[in-house]
Amino acid sequence: MATALITGASGGIGLELANLFARQKMNLVLVARNEKKLTEIAEKFIRLGIQVTIYPKDLSVLENAEEIYNDLKYKNVTIDYLVNNAGFGLHGSLTETLWQRELEMINLNMITLTYLTKMFAADMKHKGSGTILNVASTASFQPGPFMAVYCATKAYVLSLSEALNAELEGSGVVVSTLCPGVTDTGFHSIANTSRTTLLKKSKHASAKEVAEYGYKMIMKRKSVGIYGFLNRAMAFSIRFTPRKGVVGIAKLLMKPVE
Ligand SMILES: NC(=O)c1ccc[n+]([C@@H]2O[C@H](COP(=O)([O-])OP(=O)(O)OC[C@H]3O[C@@H](n4cnc5c(N)ncnc54)[C@H](OP(=O)(O)O)[C@@H]3O)[C@@H](O)[C@H]2O)c1
Repeated sequence: MATALITGASGGIGLELANLFARQKMNLVLVARNEKKLTEIAEKFIRLGIQVTIYPKDLSVLENAEEIYNDLKYKNVTIDYLVNNAGFGLHGSLTETLWQRELEMINLNMITLTYLTKMFAADMKHKGSGTILNVASTASFQPGPFMAVYCATKAYVLSLSEALNAELEGSGVVVSTLCPGVTDTGFHSIANTSRTTLLKKSKHASAKEVAEYGYKMIMKRKSVGIYGFLNRAMAFSIRFTPRKGVVGIAKLLMKPVE
């Protein structure tokens, strides 16, 4: 039976993706910091006859990602599906936000994601098969004033994943990039985005809808997928809009409002 490793599997989109893999009876390797939640989730899946390994680890620390990779190697566990979903954002002016949080974000959203992608992509290439789903965002398509670092990390995820997917053409390995728009998860209370026009005016998707879309992408081996018609239209229109205009609109959407 195939094995899927999902980061950020204790809630939101990651947990919904885990549910979808579990429905197909795939073995699961679940990573997130919250040990209690991971244990409860694992117990539920184990009752359904699924093999589950949990790693309650902080992935903003690269050494923890290295430890997970090395432990799986040691245990001869082959990963067929890697979902790099763990990530967080932070709203506020770059001159006022906490550097420590931004550093954690860069480490989690970019450094760990790159490390896991690189290591497992090499193993999958050697095996001649495998799929990686990297969770980016509609934020990947334009700079985001008041969420400058987050949007930059997601632009990086999209760029890295598309490039690697092209490198791996013909190898049996596909790197897919999922770009959700605003989704109802714990993300927004952590990122503190509730006072933005984007949050107040946009249609919110559910984590389940986004995960189902991402899961279909994996199964169809699609390279890039943007969830939602309006989000796709926005990402497309950016190509024909002057850069200054794009940043201006993003600023209006992300500026804190009462
Ligand atoms: N929600 C949105 O509107 C939206 C839009 C576009 C893209 N996304 C992207 O979608 C992905 C999933 O986010 P979500 O919306 O499902 O948010 P979420 O509900 O906050 O889930 C985030 C997951 O990542 C885990 N995580 C956070 N920090 C971690 C760390 N340092 N080490 C290990 N795991 C960590 C969390 O678990 P623990 O707290 O237990 O560690 C949780 O399982 C993220 O990459 C996010 O950037 C979200």
